[in-house]
Amino acid sequence: MLTGRPKWFTITPDLFDPVRRAWAVWVICSQGFASKMDGPFGFDKTNNTTSKRIAGKRDNFTEAYEKRLEKVQIECADALYIIESRDHEEAFFYCDPPYVGSNCGHYKGYTQADYEALLRLLSRIKGRFLLSSYPSAMLDDFISKYGWCTARKEMTVTVNIKNGNPKRKIEVLTANYPFSIEAKDWQEAQ
Ligand SMILES: C[S@@+](CC[C@H](N)C(=O)[O-])C[C@H]1O[C@@H](n2cnc3c(N)ncnc32)[C@H](O)[C@@H]1O
Repeated sequence: MLTGRPKWFTITPDLFDPVRRAWAVWVICSQGFASKMDGPFGFDKTNNTTSKRIAGKRDNFTEAYEKRLEKVQIECADALYIIESRDHEEAFFYCDPPYVGSNCGHYKGYTQADYEALLRLLSRIKGRFLLSSYPSAMLDDFISKYGWCTARKEMTVTVNIKNGNPKRKIEVLTANYPFSIEAKDWQEAQ
């Protein structure tokens, strides 16, 4: 499979069939710096880590994906509508919204108000949720108000490692059911 820069496919998508457009999206997501669709391709000068990573993604692009997606429904709609319309006692929602205050690239525009609306909805659903995010005072308020279970972990932002200035970030997992994290560097809190 060719993995060159598919610029023309994304600028004039109507000229290409759906398979070629899907290929273009896969290439952009696989090769874009930090998986961003609207930026330059990632690269490295000495260790071939970028090309090895792309080769790995290509090798893993097998029928396993097709099988995995067999019973999956893909929607393009607001998350709040999806959660509300599918909610019931046995439902489970894994929520991975854009991290407010971070560089979200092609999905920029998610606001604090959007995040608050998500947290409000999650506070009244019948099913269970697991949410990934960065820490915030607003999230802390919801956690203490609703007694949600939460754990946090300090991670290195890998995209900055190459310039010798690795950034640290704290990832937070929050749920409306008790969970325990076995990895020792996750700190649990109730
Ligand atoms: C952190 S990414 C999720 C990445 C995903 N878990 C993955 O592994 O590929 C956040 C996603 O939420 C989407 N998003 C932003 N606002 C949304 C909304 N109101 N409803 C549904 N999805 C939204 C963005 O387009 C982006 O794809």
